[in-house]
Amino acid sequence: MFTAQLTPDAVLAPLEPWMAPEFAAHMNRAREHIRPWVGPSFVTDDVDGARATLQRYADATARDGNRIFGIWARDSVVEPVETTPTPTLVGGVMFVEFSAAAGTCEIGCWLEPAAEGRGLITAACRMLLSYAFEARNLHRAEWRCRADNARSSAVAERLGMTLEGVLREAWKVADTFYDKQVWSILAGEFSPTTIDDPR
Ligand SMILES: CC(C)(COP(=O)(O)OP(=O)(O)OC[C@H]1O[C@@H](n2cnc3c(N)ncnc32)[C@H](O)[C@@H]1OP(=O)(O)O)[C@@H](O)C(=O)NCCC(=O)NCCS
Repeated sequence: MFTAQLTPDAVLAPLEPWMAPEFAAHMNRAREHIRPWVGPSFVTDDVDGARATLQRYADATARDGNRIFGIWARDSVVEPVETTPTPTLVGGVMFVEFSAAAGTCEIGCWLEPAAEGRGLITAACRMLLSYAFEARNLHRAEWRCRADNARSSAVAERLGMTLEGVLREAWKVADTFYDKQVWSILAGEFSPTTIDDPR
């Protein structure tokens, strides 16, 4: 598997359909934590559902569209390092939209609870922004989240994004409509070295 080092303990790598059993096991640890904050089609219940998500992304990637990447961490609290010789899939990042023709993309993310608070998502998003702006010459990257998703807004802010506005009651969960924030960063505003890094 091709990997990129995120931190000394974690790597980023493409998340592919053959990894569906591992993705489903991870989803069992993440499901209830992410359910209020992500699109319903992403929250699957079994290996077939997990495979369908990954196949959807694989098909889009083959058309140079959306892409999904997993984060594997060695010292997840789920299983201590001494009992985990191989890294555990703890979350990931994705281009939920990616269009070279339009010059725009949108980034999304998720983690299982034990992996929060380590800067994994900020580091992974930094790599996606480098790919979008430097390797692919895109112009604009967006971030959309529920307005009350403080941890998600904090990532956008840490990445140097600008809050452009709020789409009122545009995010439906069950019978409730929540406000949705739209953040963005333009190519000329991005520098991997200026992203806030509290380490
Ligand atoms: C949104 C979500 C992925 C953010 O996870 P996160 O762990 O807060 O984000 P990061 O991985 O970037 O880590 C940042 C945290 O690690 C800390 N940190 C430690 N080292 C760090 C580093 N080198 N760089 C950045 N942050 C670091 C930060 O201080 C911050 O912790 P704090 O919020 O307690 O101050 C996570 O909360 C989640 O999965 N939520 C549910 C699903 C979801 O909302 N998805 C997004 C939908 S729009």
